[in-house]
This record gives sequence, C-alpha cells and structure tokens, in this order.
Amino acid sequence: MSEIVVSGIRSTGNLHLGNYFGAIRNFLKLQESHQCYFFIADWHSLTTHPTPENLHETTLQVLIEYLACGIDPEKCTLYRQSDIHEIPEFYLLLNMNAYLGELERCTTFKEKARTQPNNVNAGLLTYPVLMAADILIHKAHKVPVGKDQEQHLEMTRTFANRFNRMYGVEYFPEPVAFNFGEQLTKSPGLDGSGKMGKSEGNAINLADTPDVIRKKVMRAVTDSGPVEPNQPMSEPVKNLFTLMKVMSSNDTYQYFHERYNDCSIRYGDMKKQLAEDIIMFTTPIRERINELKNNQDYLTKVIRLGAEKARQSAHKTLLDVRNIIGFKDFI
Ligand code: TRP
Repeated sequence: MSEIVVSGIRSTGNLHLGNYFGAIRNFLKLQESHQCYFFIADWHSLTTHPTPENLHETTLQVLIEYLACGIDPEKCTLYRQSDIHEIPEFYLLLNMNAYLGELERCTTFKEKARTQPNNVNAGLLTYPVLMAADILIHKAHKVPVGKDQEQHLEMTRTFANRFNRMYGVEYFPEPVAFNFGEQLTKSPGLDGSGKMGKSEGNAINLADTPDVIRKKVMRAVTDSGPVEPNQPMSEPVKNLFTLMKVMSSNDTYQYFHERYNDCSIRYGDMKKQLAEDIIMFTTPIRERINELKNNQDYLTKVIRLGAEKARQSAHKTLLDVRNIIGFKDFI
C-alpha cells in the first residue's frame, strides 16, 4: 500500500506563488503516487476572526484555486477541514497530552502573541494540536509543507510518540515534512525581505491579472545597483533572482546574473522579463479559476465527495483511538 500524505492550506486569502512553489507543486506530484489527503484548513483560519462572508468566500476561493492548479479530486481526497467532525474530537483528546510549556515555546505562537497582542486566543496556543489532529487522523507518513511549518511538524511527532508511549501501542507513524527538492522551499516576497505571505501584501496571487502582476513586480524593492564586479547581492536583489530562478528559463536567469556580475544590469529590464514569465505561468491557472467560478454544481460535487472520503479514514482512526484510550462500547 502506498504511503499516506496529508497537507492543508489555511483559507485566509488567495493562493500566491509562494503557496504554489512551497506546497501545491509537491501536491501535484504526490497525488500521482501516494494516498493523498489535501484540505482547506478553515478552522485554523478562525484564529484571526474572519467575518462569516469572508470565511465562506476564502474557503471557496482556495477550493477553486486548488482545482485550477491541477489537484484532482479523483486522484486524491480533497476536502474542507470543517466537514470532518472527527477532527475536533480527536483534537480534544490530543489536547490532554499537550503541555502549556511546549505550546508557549512554539515560535509561531510567540510571533503571533507579539504581533497581535489583543487577540492571543487559546486557539492560537493550541494551533499546533489542531494541526497534529489533521495529520494524525489519517495516520500520515508525509506532510508536504514549507519551511515555516517544520516546528509544527516536530510537535506533531512529539504528540504521536507520546500517545504511542502512553498507551504502549505503535499506532501512529512519525510524519515527516516532505519536499521533492533538496530543501524545504521558501519563496521570497517582493518587499525586499522575508517570505511571500498572504497577509504581508508582498505576494503575487495566482489569480492576479497581467496588469496587476506587472505593477507588483515593477514595484519590487531593489538597490542602487552593483558598483564592482561580482559584488555580493543585497537581500532584495537576491530575492528577485531567487524568484527568477523559479519562474524563468535557465538562459534568462544566466543572462541577468552575468549582467549583475559585470555591473551592466538594469533592474527595470530584469523586472519586465520576470513579470512576463510570471504571467505566462499563471495565465492558464487564472483562466481555469474563472471557469470554475461559474461551475457551482461541480464545486458542490467535489466538496461532497471529499467530505465522504475523508470521513471514512477519520472515523476509523477516531474509533481506534477511543478504544485505545478506554472509551469502550457498553454491551
Ligand atoms: N499550519 C499550516 C499553515 O499555516 C496549515 C495546516 C493546518 C496544515 N493543518 C495542517 C498543513 C496539516 C499541513 C498539515 O500553512
């Protein structure tokens, strides 16, 4: 039997190139050879308190975008997290063995507590437990995620091992972060620092029109240009090259790289080229997004099928777990 893969994307806005190269690209390959569960993490998105309209819209948008990228609901199980009620029960059980200290030490929690001090809710604290429930409910082996999720995955392994040890079972496999490349990928943003992120306004969305893409790329931060041959690159320029490496042909990348090294580069030319290459890549996806938007019947079918398939696997795990813990049937 093939290995089990689980991954989710939070429904907090449009998918961007960072999501594509960090996650979706791997999903497309994995669905060909593995038993895959891909889902929209709409419960996780509640930590930032979306409005009801917003919650529904972003969930629909992520579903459409997954499909437009080529995630195939026949090859994998594509579902919405909130359709699977076994997950919160399992989450409750896992919470009993998740310790305040380790949750508070989690980098993403500390970061959120710092950046949104007025909304440090318990959901934020136990975010890694819910994520572990997502993963372990299907007894996953591999979890294709970006580098920023590595610590959450480590916590998932801790919770899995703790459960196994506590009950003297070998029930949960140890899930590992998975990427086809050498390293976990991190797509840089356009604002000169950090990664491409949904909330940071430095991202190119898969649904962006060519005009918007050109504007965003032309606005990307650079520097005043190299003054001596083979000068080390500043962070923003390095980021632009990293994007070009992913989006453009090798020849194009080499061309601009050489011009950087001999100081004849014009960042404007490089950006123009990069924008066109991004447009070429995203156009077929954008077109499929627009088609799918008008196909409500199909979307409903997909979400129902996904819920049904995901529930089967989740239900079985939860029954086993309840039994192991000691919630037995009365007879
Ligand atoms: N925490 C992930 C993120 O922010 C989303 C996520 C939730 C997830 N549950 C998951 C990813 C389970 C992989 C597996 O991107």
